[in-house]
Amino acid sequence: MTDILVVRGAVKSYGAVQALRGADLTVARGEVHALCGDNGAGKSTLIKLVSGVESPDDGTLSVAGREARFAGPHEALAAGIATIHQDLGLAPRMTIYQNIYMGSELEKRLLGIPVLDRAAMIAGAQGFLKQLGSTLDDMTAPVENLSGGQRQAVAICRALRWKAEIIIMDEPTAALGVRETQQVLKLIRMLKANGVTVILVSHNMNDVVAVADRVTILQGGRSVQARATDGLSADALARLIMDERAA
Ligand SMILES: Nc1ncnc2c1ncn2[C@@H]1O[C@H](COP(=O)(O)OP(=O)(O)OP(=O)(O)O)[C@@H](O)[C@H]1O
Ligand SMILES: [Mg+2]
Repeated sequence: MTDILVVRGAVKSYGAVQALRGADLTVARGEVHALCGDNGAGKSTLIKLVSGVESPDDGTLSVAGREARFAGPHEALAAGIATIHQDLGLAPRMTIYQNIYMGSELEKRLLGIPVLDRAAMIAGAQGFLKQLGSTLDDMTAPVENLSGGQRQAVAICRALRWKAEIIIMDEPTAALGVRETQQVLKLIRMLKANGVTVILVSHNMNDVVAVADRVTILQGGRSVQARATDGLSADALARLIMDERAA
């Protein structure tokens, strides 16, 4: 497997606070890569650099072997990196298909005038959801009627619509119950089956060992360990995070 994303020596300060002090992250194409660490370890800051929300003070970022520098999230998106934040960024009153195509609506021409192509967007939305194994069938249902797991599916479909090759999910199961958490883990497995690379930021050790191939552990703004999750239990992972903290 080749590396699709490599961050080396990322440094980022907010005033006097050094959020990142030389963090590294190497993600192989097609894997599910977890980013773990205690509160304040720098996970969200690292994700902000990768998704173009913030720019690093120092360090390099390369995507598919090419050095990248993002002036904003739109540039990261153009490079194939989509981020799903914890709030999902969905418009609750709008329909499933409108959310998936928000900002990139499909159009057709009617007597030479461009109009929204509702039928094409409904069919497209259905296609993306099928790809994820979702059973949602009414694409005109408002997102506010959906469960937490189903909302995640819609947010992921929007990323797929942008042709994202890397999807970053920040704490996707934090607000979910057991059943919905399982649904989200299934979505992550489906993404992987579709060849999408997933970066999963999570405090949930069970989720991490259940779906991630590799894990990078951050502590105090540095990457202290990157390893496969093979043979790693949730308890052992929690201990790794804590041991590193004590070290
Ligand atoms: N915009 C900001 N302004 C000032 N300090 C910040 C800002 N963002 C993050 N920090 C600080 O940088 C450090 C790293 O924060 P970050 O949010 O990256 O951690 P995290 O690993 O995502 O933590 P959590 O698990 O709590 O989400 C913390 O000390 C935090 O207080
Ligand atoms: Mg965070």
